Amino acid sequence: MAQFTLPKNSKYTEGKTWPKPEGASNVQEFRIYRWNPDDGQNPRIDTYYVDRDDCGPMVLDALLWIKNNVDSTLVFRRSCREGICGSCAMNIMGGNTLACTLGIDDCGSGSIKIYPLPHMPVLKDLVPDLTSFFAQHASVEPWLQTETPAPETEWRQTPEERSKLDGLYECILCACCTTSCPSYWWNGDRFLGPAALLQAYRWLIDSRDENTGDRLDNLHDPFRLYRCHTIMNCANTCPKGLNPAKAIAEVKKMMIARVV
Ligand code: SF4
Ligand code: SF4
Ligand code: FES
Repeated sequence: MAQFTLPKNSKYTEGKTWPKPEGASNVQEFRIYRWNPDDGQNPRIDTYYVDRDDCGPMVLDALLWIKNNVDSTLVFRRSCREGICGSCAMNIMGGNTLACTLGIDDCGSGSIKIYPLPHMPVLKDLVPDLTSFFAQHASVEPWLQTETPAPETEWRQTPEERSKLDGLYECILCACCTTSCPSYWWNGDRFLGPAALLQAYRWLIDSRDENTGDRLDNLHDPFRLYRCHTIMNCANTCPKGLNPAKAIAEVKKMMIARVV
């Protein structure tokens, strides 16, 4: 019988419980994944207590409060703190989302559990390694490609042509969708995943782009595109309300349309 073992460092242990803030009457518990590649230890779950009366309303505010007041070694990414940069994506209460746009009050009652985005290598604590994710994004060549000479002013679009980019251009490349996709979990080395495919469609549908044939050729592959089985996790988790599954379905329709 085949025997399976979990990869090294995949089992986490109970970690440290940090002291409650002194004198605080409104305290929220957080259980946070910690892993340090330099100490040779397995991951652990640390418990922290945040003084809600001294902290902003969002989960990112709580992480910053912990880092500033309790444990400066806690590592996570953030930049804009308003849902624009995509860097604070993590798994909170079992769902992938942005820590800066999720309210602490919206996490339900009890302890708030925070892990890195799933099924990605972890660099440290809540920071996943997104090297492969961004390489896949680059592989769809996400820029305007034309053959006609560039106009003296801008490339023009009608309002109708421009509106086709709605629901696509807003993607902030946070990776919440791709790391929630079961097909990507099992074939992440070959399936491009929902974020890269949404971007591929964004350029396929752009009326100004003149490289549609090559773009479709680049996707015509049993793995790069067709590993999507319309499970819809991607659309359910996108913190910007986008629908990568629909974009992928549109790419598949374009594939069919060019052969009939
Ligand atoms: S489609 Fe949504 S979840 Fe996916 S990378 Fe873009 S913004 Fe993030
Ligand atoms: S719809 Fe496709 S891309 Fe989205 S989660 Fe499901 S399999 Fe993945
Ligand atoms: S900090 Fe930029 S999206 Fe959250």
